[in-house]
Amino acid sequence: MCGIVGYIGKQKSKRASEVLLEGLSKLEYRGYDSAGIAVLENDKIRVEKSVGRLAALREKIEENEPVGTQGIGHTRWATHGRPSDRNSHPHTDCSGDFVVVHNGIIENYLTLKEELIEQGHEFKSETDTEVVAHLLEEVYNGDFTASVREVLRRIEGSYALVFMSSKHPGMLICAKQDNPLIIGLGEGENFIASDIPAIIAHTRRNYILGDGELAVVTADSVAITNRAGEPVQKKVFEVSWNAEAAEKGGYEHFMLKEIHEQPKAVRDTLSQRIAKDGTCIRMEELKWSREYLEQFTKIYIVACGTAYHAGLVGKYYIEKLARVNVEVDVASEFRYRDPIVDKHTLFIAVSQSGETSDTLAAMKESKRLGATTLALTNVVASSIAREADNVLYTWAGPEIAVASTKAYTTQIVLFFMLALYMAELKGTLPSERVAELVRELKNVPAQISETLSDVEPIKTFAKQYGFNEDVFYIGRGLDYSVSLEGALKLKEVSYIHAEAYAAGELKHGTLALITEGIPVIALATQKTVYEKTLSNIKEVKARDAVVIGIASADDEELEKYVDHVMKVPETDELLLPILTVVPLQLLAYYAAITRGTDVDKPRNLAKSVTVE
Ligand code: F6R
Repeated sequence: MCGIVGYIGKQKSKRASEVLLEGLSKLEYRGYDSAGIAVLENDKIRVEKSVGRLAALREKIEENEPVGTQGIGHTRWATHGRPSDRNSHPHTDCSGDFVVVHNGIIENYLTLKEELIEQGHEFKSETDTEVVAHLLEEVYNGDFTASVREVLRRIEGSYALVFMSSKHPGMLICAKQDNPLIIGLGEGENFIASDIPAIIAHTRRNYILGDGELAVVTADSVAITNRAGEPVQKKVFEVSWNAEAAEKGGYEHFMLKEIHEQPKAVRDTLSQRIAKDGTCIRMEELKWSREYLEQFTKIYIVACGTAYHAGLVGKYYIEKLARVNVEVDVASEFRYRDPIVDKHTLFIAVSQSGETSDTLAAMKESKRLGATTLALTNVVASSIAREADNVLYTWAGPEIAVASTKAYTTQIVLFFMLALYMAELKGTLPSERVAELVRELKNVPAQISETLSDVEPIKTFAKQYGFNEDVFYIGRGLDYSVSLEGALKLKEVSYIHAEAYAAGELKHGTLALITEGIPVIALATQKTVYEKTLSNIKEVKARDAVVIGIASADDEELEKYVDHVMKVPETDELLLPILTVVPLQLLAYYAAITRGTDVDKPRNLAKSVTVE
């Protein structure tokens, strides 16, 4: 996710550029690919931006620092358009009188862009944000606030926006929808930021802007109105966190923060990919035809760790919905096993970072053998994205904790959409079924929030079982894939030995390890194999294991056979992995807390594995 800082003051000795750069430096920890600032200098807007680190931007302006007491700044994490000077924020209109920084995604930017080009606007970047500046120029009627309001009426999507205009010195306007934005209150100066750390050095007193609200900020005043233009009275939010806690949004660890960010990450990943009438999936990035797709007789999904586990779910979706043969492989195995790859192969690499060396090497090898390549990644213009013929991005925002959480759920969501897209092209699913699944998919972000709303029972289990040395996870079908991810999460952050087994496989060896008091997490959400899973649960119960069942909200059976049950909201069983993994992530997190491990940086692990 990108970072925003805005500043407006009166004292000539306090340069806006200094406040902006210092604020942006406090957001560096989240990762970014470019940065920029705009300052009102002698009644003109001066924009300075640079791809790469903030240091590059500092160096650029060192000799000739902008003079002015109001400005806006941004660190960018690319979504639309690769990292470059041109694509960095702030963005201006044609005249250079309006400038804007933006976090989020403008969903209807392509339509707006076409209209604006027809009206004669010239675009300088590939971003969705630039349309906002041109649209403001187009609708401007002399009243800055009313014109911004008109822009907000026309854009669709999610945003935190800050506007500045040389025609209206002495004021900044900001607005938000589904992206955080705060206004920091000073004496004779005010601040705007996407995150508390950016301005905590200046003030601890903030207004937290709500969805649909707009604020006009001057050096001495803040006026907040709602969508209808009515004044909103806000309570001042006093930040009591220290700078380190502020980086984590008040959560104790990045892992927990990122688990809680999943509703938004999934919502962002869905955005722009569901048709306006909500009946089918659009994949602007692919533009495949039925003939193009039918040339592939085989799909390989290749990845490492958590991304590999997402790939297992992806296989299930593509085979079930689009009826194409899929093999999933661990990248370090695939690249050395002389796989059968030719021009009829579609190779899908899954990677949060886009930099994992085994996955990249496997992709290069497949390309050499004639395959068409597709990357599912979270980092725009990463090595894997650059190497691939096609790219689909998960828009999860930067993932900082070593243990991957929101990347996994968004990868699954992307696979689900890809499978539906392929199914529509191939005609393997009736359109009513596609529409029904899309409907269910749209509910998922709210259902993740619901799953996250009551963590107390999970904390209790973690305390109760956090000191066990072994934990087993079992499930069938999609539940088995999620079990693998649950066990990996527990291992990596709590250092508890955890194993996941296909439930039907237990009696072929592993059952020997199930003894009195051993915790077994049993996922039983898949209707077609429900009875079979129940028999496996009875097998472990008969050996006096302690069974924690994970079930769908409509299940009234499981609690009769297990010791505890955790339920997730009811949805189509294909979508349940996106929900059932959430309690497993939380269980791993709280088990790690119980054991006092270094949750965000577990021993021996790195976030990006760029060595073999
Ligand atoms: C586990 C984890 C790792 C990564 C793996 C692949 O929580 O984070 O298993 O999933 O190293 O990394 P990416 O997705 O960046 O290729």
